[in-house]
Amino acid sequence: MLVRLLYASRATAPLIASVQESILEQSRIHNPKAGITGLLCFSDDLFIQVLEGGRDEVCELYNTIVRDSRHGHVRILSFEEIRERRFGNWTMGQVNLAKVNPALLLKYGERAELNPFAGSGQATLALLDELIATALVVGRAG
Ligand SMILES: Cc1cc2nc3c(=O)[nH]c(=O)nc-3n(C[C@H](O)[C@H](O)[C@H](O)COP(=O)(O)O)c2cc1C
Repeated sequence: MLVRLLYASRATAPLIASVQESILEQSRIHNPKAGITGLLCFSDDLFIQVLEGGRDEVCELYNTIVRDSRHGHVRILSFEEIRERRFGNWTMGQVNLAKVNPALLLKYGERAELNPFAGSGQATLALLDELIATALVVGRAG
C-alpha cells in the first residue's frame, strides 16, 4: 500500500547550508532503507516536503520529522493512497524555492509568492509536479 504525504512547515531559524546538508544527509541514509522517495523544498524560512512510500514507513518518518526542532508549525496539506509514485527518482530531491520562476508561482497561487499554508494541497502538489520537470531539482537517486 503506497501513500503520499505532503506537508509544509516553518524553519525555526533562518536556514543555513549546514542544517540543510545535515537533513539531506539523514535522508540519504535513512530513506532508501525505508523505501521512501520524495522532494524537499526549502527557502529561508519554509519547508515543503512530499514523502512517498509504504503507509507504515511514511507515517513513521513523518512522526519523526514532526518532532524535529529545526522546524515548527508543521501542517499536513495532503495525504492520499496512490497507485504509483510521482517522485520515485529521488531518495530526497531538493529544490531551492528562491530559484523558482515567479510566473510558475503565479500559475498556482494568488500571488507570485509561495504560501502553502493558504493554498490547497492539490495546487502545491501541481507546482511540485512542474518542478520535477525542471532542472531545479537536484539529488536524483542512483
Ligand atoms: C524539514 C525536515 C525534513 C526532514 N526529512 C527527512 C527525511 O526525509 N528523512 C530522514 O531520515 N530524516 C529527515 N529529517 C530529519 C529527521 O527529523 C530526523 O532528524 C532524522 O531522521 C534522525 O536521523 P538520525 O537518527 O540518523 O540522526 C527531516 C528534518 C526536517 C526538519
